[in-house]
Amino acid sequence: MGPRVTTRPKSRARTGDALPWRLDCHMPAGADAVATDELRRALTARRPWIPPRWFYDDAGCALFVRITGLAAYYQTRTEQALLDAAMDDIVATHRPAELVEVGSGTAQKTRAILDAMERAGSLTRYLPFDISPGAVAVSAADISAAYPGTRVHGVAGDFSRHLARIPRCPAGTRRMVAFLGGTIGNLGPSRRRTLVRRLARLLKPGDSLVMGTDLAHDPRVLVRAYDDPEGVTAAFSRNMIHHVNAAFAGNADPDAFAHVALWNARASRVEMHLRARRDITWNLAGLGIVVPVEAGATIRTEISCKFTRGSVEALYADAGLALDSWHEDPLSRYAVSVATPA
Ligand code: AVJ
Repeated sequence: MGPRVTTRPKSRARTGDALPWRLDCHMPAGADAVATDELRRALTARRPWIPPRWFYDDAGCALFVRITGLAAYYQTRTEQALLDAAMDDIVATHRPAELVEVGSGTAQKTRAILDAMERAGSLTRYLPFDISPGAVAVSAADISAAYPGTRVHGVAGDFSRHLARIPRCPAGTRRMVAFLGGTIGNLGPSRRRTLVRRLARLLKPGDSLVMGTDLAHDPRVLVRAYDDPEGVTAAFSRNMIHHVNAAFAGNADPDAFAHVALWNARASRVEMHLRARRDITWNLAGLGIVVPVEAGATIRTEISCKFTRGSVEALYADAGLALDSWHEDPLSRYAVSVATPA
């Protein structure tokens, strides 16, 4: 149970006009005990790793936005093109009145869905959900300015804990839940089954889930997407060291680590690691731990699992959902799929 803070934009609140947007925050302002324990366990594991949430401080969010524009990182623009091409048909089939977006980030790709809903005349409410309260506030304000007449209700929370806090969909109206960007790939098999089951709980019969998944294909293309020639992804990965240092009074030099991306065929995933260039004694006073990293040893910073149509169908089936439509690019690198309660 995190603290709950509701924010309303002050200017409109003062005038007494209908409130254009609101934000419920379930993330604690200071150190998050659950995330702290998770990090301590991860760094003291036999194979140390850092959970992906530690990518996304302000610098990391900015680096991720740069990644989405890189030539090597085809995922974002491919997903955007698929949404632009398919959303009118998807909306015509499911006729959602409201959109819940899990991991809304800067809510850029959202607009393809909202535009299609607006063209169909069905759009009434947008509910962005993200771990970053700042990102939810900015996207709530942006979307409410760009779609006047649409209610916006943002929720800041952790998708492994707070999805059930998303307000209910009014009876008689249909909801679409979007989980885009291939973020499901950050989770290993058991955690991703749990998450898709939780997403399924946000749906009633007639509702739909739209998910973006990166597909397994040429390992050279995949690895390059996570080790771009410009070095932006390397900076993104090293920034985790900086972020963890800042949060827990750590002393590791991010430049003492080299960025490594590799294809793990057995697990069908790209992995990113930081490899120590020399012996490092990472003292994290705020966590009460010292992490010794020998020269050549690695800390894993991310897994990004790659799917097939069959593995996505199995994931839906496990959650009591059925694949309704499948949209992939001509090179079969990325897919947007729609599922409904079975
Ligand atoms: C935001 C998790 C989908 O795995 O492709 C991009 C993050 N990491 N480049 C991904 C990421 C390195 C991204 N996701």
